[in-house]
Amino acid sequence: MKRVLVTGGMGFIGCNFVKYMLREHDDVKIINLDKLTYAGNPENLKDLKDKRYAFVEGDVCDKSVVDKAVSKCDAIVHFAAETHVDRSIMYAGDFVTTDVFGTFVLLEAARKHKVQRFVHISTDEVYGEAVGRPSKENDALMPKSPYAASKAGADRLAFSYFCTYGLPVTITRCTNNYGPYQYPEKLIPLFVTNAIDDLPLPVYGTGRNTRDWIFVEDHCQAIDMVLESNDFEGEVFNVGSGEEKSVLDIASLILSYLNKPDDLMRFVKDRPGHVTRHAVNAAKIRKRLGWAPRRTFEAAVRTTVDWYRNNPEWWRPIKSGEFKKYYEKQYRTE
Ligand code: NAD
Ligand code: DAU
Repeated sequence: MKRVLVTGGMGFIGCNFVKYMLREHDDVKIINLDKLTYAGNPENLKDLKDKRYAFVEGDVCDKSVVDKAVSKCDAIVHFAAETHVDRSIMYAGDFVTTDVFGTFVLLEAARKHKVQRFVHISTDEVYGEAVGRPSKENDALMPKSPYAASKAGADRLAFSYFCTYGLPVTITRCTNNYGPYQYPEKLIPLFVTNAIDDLPLPVYGTGRNTRDWIFVEDHCQAIDMVLESNDFEGEVFNVGSGEEKSVLDIASLILSYLNKPDDLMRFVKDRPGHVTRHAVNAAKIRKRLGWAPRRTFEAAVRTTVDWYRNNPEWWRPIKSGEFKKYYEKQYRTE
């Protein structure tokens, strides 16, 4: 049995990954270490009844909790992070603490307990603008938000533990995910749930900014392949679908699928430091690991819209709780 410590497994990608791993592998045990911040939701895994799964509530910055959890594992997949760019503009300190210091605490424990694999979940945000062509793994890191800069710090810290201590680290840099269980502060779940309720869809600036969009299960598959492989210590893999879409494209698709009028779109103040384009060249993971996304954007967005339509009991409590205060602050018009 391979024992895998997943950090941040109550969040969006983490919970999808836990389910994916238990479904795809008989010989895996998962320990999920999560602090249950506003983004960590036990509802995400409440239906999971599997003896191979255990949950530990704790902070990745807490050395004793981390040490204990790491001591019981062979491999680590490190998702836990503060993840929302807009919140990083309001509360940068939380991002530096969890994303950089939390990663350091985990790396130290991994070194002490000689874990066999450390998959560090980084992001394409670390590159900053993709100028002229999609970003490649060896491009310079020019992060533009406190979130992206904190993730860049964590990414390079993880690399340094490979170079300095020989820790078997592999780093993934994925593009924008979407799918079930995504906290509705992020673009797609926000627009879908607002549209369902006939509320405005707040488009930052011109709405022409583009991202490369990937269905969360395709990302989970890529991480699984990286975790399974032993040949890529110290390496970085971009993960992306190549499906580059603007905010306007996405708003139109969602509104038309839900039969809602285009005038629900509202142009609002732009995000400070808003990156015009994020996109990655994913040729390396396609060639070296044989990974390829299984879904097309249009089909997977429909699946995602249907999921939010069919699961209002998941997102309605979120939108009326902590999120409401955040939303009012973030989107209030002066
Ligand atoms: P999320 O915000 O949905 O979930 C983050 C999880 O981490 C939550 O369960 C939260 O409780 C937990 N967490 C936060 N701080 C913690 C701490 N100090 N200790 C323990 N747990 C803590 O995030 P997500 O979208 O699922 O992203 C997961 C990872 O993937 C992050 O590292 C993120 O940078 C990376 N990533 C995300 C995307 C994306 O599009 N969502 C794309 C590329 C990379
Ligand atoms: O690229 C990977 C990154 O994708 C991850 O590392 C981050 O954790 C994840 O949050 C995401 O970052 P983005 O900033 O790209 O995602 P977000 O959903 O916040 O925004 C996507 C685009 O939509 C971006 O151009 C900003 C725009 N936007 C977003 C919101 C929330 C709007 O126009 N209006 C909005 O209300």
